Amino acid sequence: MPGYVVVGMQWGDEGKGKIVDYLTEHVNMVVRHQGGNNAGHTVVVNGEQTILHLLPSGILHEGRTCVIGNGTVLDPGVLLKEIEGVRKAGHKLEGRLFISDCAHIIMPYHKLMDKGQEQFRGKTRIGTTGRGIGPAYADKADRLGIRFGDLVDLPCFRAKLEQALAYKNAILTAVFGEEPFDVDAVYEEYAAYANALQPFIADGVSMVHDALRQKERVLFEGAQGSMLDIDHGTYPYVTSSTTVAGGVCAGAGVGPNAVEGITGIVKAYTTRVGAGPFPTEETGAVGEHLREKGGEYGATTGRPRRCGWLDLVQLRRALTLNGATCIALTKADVLSEVETIRFCTAYETDGQLTREFPSQAAALESATPVYEEAPGWRQDISGCRTWDDLPENARAYFEKIEAFAGIPVCLISVGPGREQTIFRRDPFQSSKPADLATAAKHS
Ligand code: GDP
Ligand code: IMO
Ligand code: MG
Repeated sequence: MPGYVVVGMQWGDEGKGKIVDYLTEHVNMVVRHQGGNNAGHTVVVNGEQTILHLLPSGILHEGRTCVIGNGTVLDPGVLLKEIEGVRKAGHKLEGRLFISDCAHIIMPYHKLMDKGQEQFRGKTRIGTTGRGIGPAYADKADRLGIRFGDLVDLPCFRAKLEQALAYKNAILTAVFGEEPFDVDAVYEEYAAYANALQPFIADGVSMVHDALRQKERVLFEGAQGSMLDIDHGTYPYVTSSTTVAGGVCAGAGVGPNAVEGITGIVKAYTTRVGAGPFPTEETGAVGEHLREKGGEYGATTGRPRRCGWLDLVQLRRALTLNGATCIALTKADVLSEVETIRFCTAYETDGQLTREFPSQAAALESATPVYEEAPGWRQDISGCRTWDDLPENARAYFEKIEAFAGIPVCLISVGPGREQTIFRRDPFQSSKPADLATAAKHS
């Protein structure tokens, strides 16, 4: 069945939105299957920038169906604003945007708790986006969540709200010193959202399966990145959902055999927003250069992103976790002025060299990166449109990454615009996962 996954291979903001928009021309349906409006996916078409937090990044292509899957948590106010923005830009959404009735709703108390919990964490705070993501997923697991299907039945919504608020207000007042929420006020606000969103609420699982059965291409758009995965990331400095490719199955309701190919999005260097270990972080001039040249400021919160060199030890871990079958390398143009490019191929801890990515955040914290170097190309590549247009040193660097990864670099992004993309090989024809034995030879 022709399902394809786009997944971030680092700590998020790899350029997933740009690549999903680029690939949407070749698919029928785009599905967001996890995360919420902690995500910020940027798409630039004809010089016009659109930042999407909840709508799938294929939404700017007319005639493509977009589904927000059951595995997401959504703030309805944010979703409505986004829908309005896209409509104003001239896009019709009726009949091609669907929100799963099993997707969970972010409630006002989730946002307050997100911020309150961060204060309690003190020095060990995660640096969340403050959008209520963690508390919404916690309620889902706690079976206290409210879903979009409940919005279609307002008396049922009211009953669930009353039950949740009885508990949440007790915590908010006693633990966080907040004012309690008024049931009527919250109900009125969400009943208005229900009214506006009702036409979009559907059985997301059936929509996806109908498309797959008809052999339509379905693209599953990951949010965040592999290192922010709740199980496999740098816990506890992670988000609250399954961000690796496997999350598609539960988050959209498909079996693993629905997936034919997995495109790993790899930024040509590394960034991270929020707290947590980041071995190749550069806090000096190099980091500053990458931040300014790459415009590395959060698309959701505006926070400056921490920047550093590409980490191949971390990339290898992500390749394994996702079973990636090809790579889309992004933001290659940002390295154009760098004289000598560094990339990490091992970690040193207490005098010991390792190429294994540790699963404990504390171990990663104490790892010192071991670098190899490659000569930069020192020329603007943002106008390159084919592999042959690229300077020799750029091609050599990308081939090095490819050799290390053991899977092809299919796409190379050389700027934020849809057209600033080098199509080297068809990602839809790459279905063999990384051969890590080959990769090991090059590490
Ligand atoms: P996402 O969360 O993975 O979708 O990534 P973001 O949208 O948060 O961050 C990527 C940023 O880089 C956005 O501002 C994009 O417009 C921009 N971008 C994407 N690809 C490229 C590229 O190849 N070159 C440059 N210079 N910018 C890019
Ligand atoms: P996209 O999809 C980068 C980070 C936050 C914080 C941690 C937990 O645009 O790549 P949360 O609010 O999810 O509980 O925060 O995860 N984070 C992201 N970082 N890109 C994202 O999404 C992120 N979504 C969450 O900064 O460190
Ligand atoms: Mg982003």
